[in-house]
Amino acid sequence: MIRPIVRWPNPVLTQVATKACVDDATLTLARDMLDTMYHANGRGLAAPQIGVLTRVFVMDAAWKTTDPAPEVFINPEILWRAPQMGLGPEGCLSIPGVVADVMRHSSLILQWQMTDGSTQAEKLTGFRAICAQHEIDHLNGIVTLDHLSPDARTAALVVLG
Ligand code: NI
Repeated sequence: MIRPIVRWPNPVLTQVATKACVDDATLTLARDMLDTMYHANGRGLAAPQIGVLTRVFVMDAAWKTTDPAPEVFINPEILWRAPQMGLGPEGCLSIPGVVADVMRHSSLILQWQMTDGSTQAEKLTGFRAICAQHEIDHLNGIVTLDHLSPDARTAALVVLG
């Protein structure tokens, strides 16, 4: 089911999400998040972006160029961050029209719970690493704009009028 996406500066986007249980409600939430993400043409979506303050995000890094490969991350935790960082442009479904240049670690080791309740850990690189950092920020009440200097933030927001 497609759900409405919360737009910045809705205060729900500044809240810290709480730990998720792997239960039917969370599985339904994850399915709805994927429906909503694909419908909005996004590649990642965190639960607070549909107004639910629970630690779940979904991602499909490549569906615009290959077959869909939906991924669900429940209670994600970054176990290791590469010291190498890079600056890159990021959009956000909650801040449509705004692109912000954000510094991210180039790779990381992420641990999370799968939809069957098992725990998984994997090294993420490239777009998946950047997207995971963006979505985990949402779980911690942080958006791209919060990474910008005051001047860059003002410039980024000009498009919003
Ligand atoms: Ni976002």
